[in-house]
Amino acid sequence: MPSFPLTRKRRNRYTHSIRNLVRENNLTANDLIWPVFVLEGNQRKEEIKSMPGVFRMSQDLLLKRLDELHDLGLNAVALFPVVTEDKKSINAEEAFSEDGLVQRTIRAIKMLLPDVLVISDVALDPYTTHGQDGIISKEGYVLNDETIEVLTQQAVSHAQAGVDIVAPSDMMDGRIIQVRAALEEHDFPNTGILAYSAKYSSCFYGPFRDAVGSAGNLGKSSKESYQMDPANSKEAIDEMAMDIEEGADMLMVKPGMPYLDIIANASQKFNTPIFAYQVSGEYAMLQSAIDNGYLDEEKAIMESLLCFKRAGCDAILTYYADRVLTYLDSSDDEK
Ligand code: PBG
Repeated sequence: MPSFPLTRKRRNRYTHSIRNLVRENNLTANDLIWPVFVLEGNQRKEEIKSMPGVFRMSQDLLLKRLDELHDLGLNAVALFPVVTEDKKSINAEEAFSEDGLVQRTIRAIKMLLPDVLVISDVALDPYTTHGQDGIISKEGYVLNDETIEVLTQQAVSHAQAGVDIVAPSDMMDGRIIQVRAALEEHDFPNTGILAYSAKYSSCFYGPFRDAVGSAGNLGKSSKESYQMDPANSKEAIDEMAMDIEEGADMLMVKPGMPYLDIIANASQKFNTPIFAYQVSGEYAMLQSAIDNGYLDEEKAIMESLLCFKRAGCDAILTYYADRVLTYLDSSDDEK
């Protein structure tokens, strides 16, 4: 590069039009996936204490909100059920009930808004009395192969309800190939798989566990025997490579902001789309600083998400998706 004064890097930052022209990354409505918590009943809306501004909603209110956001360009939602205690069991049979909360909600969304992509979580934690993502042994160890049998039934039941993409978030070994095989066998060749490939055993999921009511069930147990160690990065590459081999259509890194290095590395190594999850604890951190007046709400949210794009993400799950759609609607590029 020729040196100063031939090169003045500030020339490309001189006006907002020049900055718009040379910008490498942008955030659009198409990059966003809105995770939502759905409750049984009607006309119910509860704010999640550790996630101020995020609500659990019954299906009727959720549909109304999705319809409004659809007008602003909402492209995809990820569904998380709040399962009542009486429906939880040791072996999570409710996970694949044809008439379960998730299955009913998938059908309702696809009926009202067929072009909004519906992504469903495939994992057993909302349905187990012990709060683990799988079937456990007498000693409490999460059993890999036994869990996969239930996960495949869960995935097929979501596909039968009309889901576009199933998202195994459990971290069992070999579940992607089994879910793919089950979907093919039941004649769902176009149902996609978003694999939570690099899902870390993270304290940043705390508010989510409150939101779906699994924190109490999990108690002091941890998920360290299946979710990844936050200290590892090479291992994430192995996990992702295996999931691609097994038929994943997209890969997820989770959490997001403290793990941007994993995203950047993955997007350089693989040609499969990489998604990230800006998880509940990241929301809680940002939102408490915003609520205290320490950070500017719109600027902090938009910068946090743009940085995911810069790291190499193709799409982002964020509890801010609804707010971002309104921001994008009212602003075009930088003014
Ligand atoms: C569970 C699941 C979790 C999240 C999504 N799916 C929590 C966990 O693994 O305990 C966390 C999402 C968030 O924190 O926003 N299968």
